[in-house]
Amino acid sequence: MEFQTWREVLEYARWAPSPHNTQHWKFKLIDERRAVLFYDPARLLPIEDGAGRFMASGMGILLEMMSIAAAPLGLEVRGTPLNVPLDASARQPSPFADLELMVRAEPEPLDRELIRQRRTSRLPYNDRPVPPALLEELSRVAERFGHQFEHSNDPAEVAWVVGLNAETMFYDLRDDATRGEIGHWARYSLADAQQRGDGLAAFAMLFPGWLMRLFFEKNRLFQVPGLHQLCKWSYKRSMRGTRTVAWISGKFQEQPDCITAGRALARLWLTMTKHGVYLHPFGSVITNHRSHQYMEEHFAGTQRRHPLWLLVRLGQSDLPPRALRLLLDELIIP
Ligand SMILES: Cc1cc2nc3c(=O)[nH]c(=O)nc-3n(C[C@H](O)[C@H](O)[C@H](O)COP(=O)(O)O)c2cc1C
Repeated sequence: MEFQTWREVLEYARWAPSPHNTQHWKFKLIDERRAVLFYDPARLLPIEDGAGRFMASGMGILLEMMSIAAAPLGLEVRGTPLNVPLDASARQPSPFADLELMVRAEPEPLDRELIRQRRTSRLPYNDRPVPPALLEELSRVAERFGHQFEHSNDPAEVAWVVGLNAETMFYDLRDDATRGEIGHWARYSLADAQQRGDGLAAFAMLFPGWLMRLFFEKNRLFQVPGLHQLCKWSYKRSMRGTRTVAWISGKFQEQPDCITAGRALARLWLTMTKHGVYLHPFGSVITNHRSHQYMEEHFAGTQRRHPLWLLVRLGQSDLPPRALRLLLDELIIP
């Protein structure tokens, strides 16, 4: 088959996680060695992520996972970003990075099957803190990218982080433009989610579809005092059993920094998967400036070299539902 190696690599990489499961990538395969990674402007988040940092980090995750996927073939993927801004007003998919399959220089410690096993878990966790040995391994992984992975098992910190995420989510969704943008990616029915193969499916978000639709389409209802508190309480309760939260700091300003941050996140996430630990990233602290500020103030005072960019909870849970993906042929530009 033509482009067999690329197709094998991309069959794994298409399972990379992306904000709101937008899968904002496309591929133009040139020959057995070279390809071009495109971004799809229709799949960006211009309201939440005007500067494109969130989506650039998504590209970093994808690039890292592509390279891990190529490892059993004795290869790695070299991605050379073209340093173009992610422009949501572009009319068609545009080149983002040149890709090249190269002979692998160093052995790959992560099994590529982890890429398919990895999932976001929004379920309750099992009330056990993440083992210290894994937390140390995660710090070392982050360190290799110049990032810092710090954690806490203190119930007060856990409550603060889970609380900030809930506050941010409800705050963001009160804004018509933000709600419209996120709502565009909401998939209320299983049939819709399966047909489109992308977005935030109700079943993966663990909400009944009708409730999720009501939330996006009749949000004023949820702003009624009492009901608002009840919803927030119930959302926070869905995260019960969380005993460990973590925060990641590192350069996250210019596009190359955000790509590196994404690469670090990819390896952190797969390392957790290797040890049977799930992750739930709280990406809204990247996109919501107010929450970002609260986070900076709350975690100030350590010897951190760079600003914080992500908060997460991590732990063990039941098997979460598997979010859907676009098919490989939908990602390849003919
Ligand atoms: C950078 C980043 C930030 C994310 N932030 C959130 C978040 O704030 N809340 C959430 O529920 N999921 C978040 N996710 C998870 C994505 O929604 C998820 O990866 C996507 O829907 C695909 O699902 P999967 O990870 O189970 O394959 C984030 C993912 C990435 C890559």
